[in-house]
Amino acid sequence: MATKLDQVVPFGRSLWEYELIFSLTEEDLTKRILSCADGPASFNAELKQQGVTVTSVDPLYQFSGPEIAQRFEDCYEQVFSQIRNTVDDFSWIYHRDPDDLLKNRRRALQSFVQDYEQGRKEARYIIASLPDLPFPDISFDLALCSHFLFLYTDHFTLEFHLRSIEEMLRVAGEVRIFPLLTLSGDYSPYLGAVSDHLCKQGYIVIIEPVAYELQKGGNEMMRIVKAGV
Ligand SMILES: C[S@@+](CC[C@H](N)C(=O)[O-])C[C@H]1O[C@@H](n2cnc3c(N)ncnc32)[C@H](O)[C@@H]1O
Repeated sequence: MATKLDQVVPFGRSLWEYELIFSLTEEDLTKRILSCADGPASFNAELKQQGVTVTSVDPLYQFSGPEIAQRFEDCYEQVFSQIRNTVDDFSWIYHRDPDDLLKNRRRALQSFVQDYEQGRKEARYIIASLPDLPFPDISFDLALCSHFLFLYTDHFTLEFHLRSIEEMLRVAGEVRIFPLLTLSGDYSPYLGAVSDHLCKQGYIVIIEPVAYELQKGGNEMMRIVKAGV
């Protein structure tokens, strides 16, 4: 299905948020990392500044930096008015309040946009859509997926989730997914079926707490590794 820019909310997280969301260690950052549905997160850009190269994929990367930045300007007010109306549904620990959150999202976007053209030339930002990834088997050590799978349970089927996770496991030795909650703040109803399916395929599925929470109760990630590795 073609991605239309007016259907995307291009909000991205920072390296600092990714480090907490995925419990990334210094050793993790030496691995070959693929970040799926990476959007306008500044994870890739900030790591590049530290001399670390990661690969990001997202259908959003068919658009230019100015187009993505303009879409942010066009939709942020609507999203933030919803957040202000449901302020108690969020934990204001890492972001002080909705204004601080907006400031942090804008900062991540600016950092992403500054890096984006060069990153495209270096194939650090690649246009691709789950459940298909344009990489050979085990091209990466670690595949991350922040704020896409499980979060958009209402928009994507269980089959889409299974195919997407299997595809990430085809190209990477380990997969980490965050959050496990849907947009309404409940656990995704797919968690049990995904976990059972992967365990039957010989994977170890671990739900583990992480040191990040914005959606209340959204402080766990799914880590999937091949048994015996
Ligand atoms: C809420 S954003 C998350 C961005 C980033 N991962 C973060 O946490 O800051 C969700 C992203 O999913 C992307 N997306 C939508 N459909 C996708 C698909 N089929 N495969 C991969 N990414 C997709 C969107 O373009 C958008 O950038």
